[in-house]
Formats: sequence, structure tokens, C-alpha cells
Amino acid sequence: MKLFIDTANLEEIQDAATWGIVDGVTTNPSLAAKEKKTFEETLEGIVKLIDGPISAEVVSLEASKMIQEARKLSKVHSNIVIKIPLIQEGIKAVRTLSSEGIKTNVTLCFSAVQALLAAKVGATYVSPFVGRLDDNGQNGMELIREIREVYDNYGFKTQILTASVRHPQHILEAAKIGSDVATVPYKVLKQLYNHPLTTIGLDKFLKDWSGMLQATKV
Ligand code: G3P
Repeated sequence: MKLFIDTANLEEIQDAATWGIVDGVTTNPSLAAKEKKTFEETLEGIVKLIDGPISAEVVSLEASKMIQEARKLSKVHSNIVIKIPLIQEGIKAVRTLSSEGIKTNVTLCFSAVQALLAAKVGATYVSPFVGRLDDNGQNGMELIREIREVYDNYGFKTQILTASVRHPQHILEAAKIGSDVATVPYKVLKQLYNHPLTTIGLDKFLKDWSGMLQATKV
């Protein structure tokens, strides 16, 4: 499963890029708005740090305007993937962008039938928001399972990009189900490394090692 980092913060991306586990980046208008830069400046910074798919979202609500925005954003770099909301106009826009060879990430997906529509128009990725479903009293991971089943039934090539990840368990569940990608906030990516038994085990190894050095000192 590929791991993307879900942030528009260049410091976080720069740090995570050194870890060797990050395959791409997703941003959204809320994440971009937290940065003290224009969106173009943010994207130009990101493409220098990560050589992989970088999602940039349009903010228009009409298909024709989304397409104009998408064409402009895709000129920033060949790695830019256009994020389009899962609404009727968005699906229409994705159909055109697919025919032009522009990669898309259909976002704000909350049902498997919505995901079916994204696949039918050739979206590169679909982003189901698991955390927001959980917050709403539903089971986010169940949606990933349903989309996997629907896509496998028909051989759809659209990649499932598990989004709105809140904790490492979401990532484990996504990987078990066969999600193609999970996009993960910086803080949660760091949590993936941790296990208390690793910390305790390493501490003991190092204590034992230094005991041996003391005992064999001449
Ligand atoms: O980038 C889309 C998604 O990951 C947003 O997550 O935490 O705002 O629900 P969140």
C-alpha cells in the first residue's frame, strides 16, 4: 500500500521526505489555507520535495470552471493530480479531464455508489473519508471494504485512496482490505513507528551492551 502525506506544510513534507516511506502528497483547501503562501507557491515547494503524485484541489462548482482550474494547476508540474469534489458537476469534469490524460483524485466520497461513479468516468483515485464517517457515528472502514468489492467485481482501475485517517489502526485496516493508498497526517505517520515493546527492548539491549563493555574493560 502506498503512503501519502496529508498536509500542505512544507516543513512537515521536507522532514517526512527524508524517511523514505512517503510516496506522494495530498492537500485540500483547508490545509492550504493554513499556510502563509499562495497555493501556487505551496505546490511549487511540494514538487521540489516529493517526486510522486501531489493532489491539488479545485474550488469551482461548475464543470467548465473546474476544467479550467484543473488545466492551469496541472501546468505547475507533471506530478500534479487534480482533486475534484464528488458532485454531479465534478464527475462531469473528471470525464473530460480523463479524456485529456489529466490525473484526478475524486474527493469527499462517503458512499460506494459515489465511488462507482468516480470509477466510471476514469478517475485515477477516489478518496473515501473514513475519519469523518466515524465522527458521524458510521463505520469508515466498512466503506473501504465496499468500494474494494465493487471495484474488484468489475476490474475498475481507479485506486482507492483512504483519506481522513485519524490513527494507525485506520492504516492497518486499510492495508488488510487492500486499499491502494492511505493518505496520512504527519503526526499519525510518526506514530506508525512506535511500539512500547520496541522501546523497552532497545533500552534493554543497550543496557546489556554497556554492561558487557564495563565487564570486559581492561
Ligand atoms: O485531505 C482530505 C482528508 O484527508 C481530510 O481529513 O481530517 O480533515 O477529515 P480530515
